[in-house]
Amino acid sequence: MIELKNVNKNYENGTRALRGINLTIDDGEFVFVVGRSGSGKSTLIKLLLKELEPTSGRIIVNDMDLGKMPRRYVPKYRRTLGVVFQDFRLLKDRSVFENVAFAQRVVGVPYRRIKESVPAMLRMVGLSAKYKSFPRQLSGGEQQRVAIARALINRPEVLLADEPTGNLDSYNAVEIMKLLEKINRRGTTVIVVTHSQEMVEAMQKRVITMDRGTIIDDTGAEVEWYD
Ligand SMILES: Nc1ncnc2c1ncn2[C@@H]1O[C@H](COP(=O)(O)OP(=O)(O)OP(=O)(O)O)[C@@H](O)[C@H]1O
Ligand SMILES: [Mg+2]
Repeated sequence: MIELKNVNKNYENGTRALRGINLTIDDGEFVFVVGRSGSGKSTLIKLLLKELEPTSGRIIVNDMDLGKMPRRYVPKYRRTLGVVFQDFRLLKDRSVFENVAFAQRVVGVPYRRIKESVPAMLRMVGLSAKYKSFPRQLSGGEQQRVAIARALINRPEVLLADEPTGNLDSYNAVEIMKLLEKINRRGTTVIVVTHSQEMVEAMQKRVITMDRGTIIDDTGAEVEWYD
């Protein structure tokens, strides 16, 4: 479970990027985060990654209070999260296989395991045939699927995606969303920042709408009335 309690984030220049955010996301949920440019969506993602610290308030992820987490534990914490960005961030001079394998190598997974886990993950994202290709030889949608495979290879509990379809045409955007839904059905909590109203309407998931650093709407919050 992810909990934010009265979280504020002010940047050094005085910008109040998040103001009094209260939010609970249960295990296994699929959540969209929407809102106009500058409303604080990426700041929220960076706080969850512990790339940034809140100015005040508490963030608790799977019973861990991020504010109290010893620094030496942070890399281990981050490994419980998978992250996907708009611009893919692949290693340009490495093959598809190597890009995904890399995430396992850095955590010391032995090669005999990698050579089984990577092909299985590439099958899941539909890229088995491209394992030898380099990123420049792939379409945008294919590159994004490599990025998703890399984010998932260490079996994270939560997948954070900041505009994963921002650079894709609508066909590829839908394909990526279907993939995120499949991942979610397998038990991973998925949090997706998007500008695509079309996508959000098509998917029928919980939608958190942000505006100027606050949550102005949360379709999931209404469910609590029926508990
Ligand atoms: N490093 C920073 N230093 C100062 N201000 C920042 C910094 N990063 C973001 N901001 C400001 O904080 C606010 C929220 O930014 P954020 O990146 O979270 O918005 P966003 O909702 O992700 O926008 P977009 O949809 O354009 O990606 C904006 O006013 C932005 O200008
Ligand atoms: Mg952003």
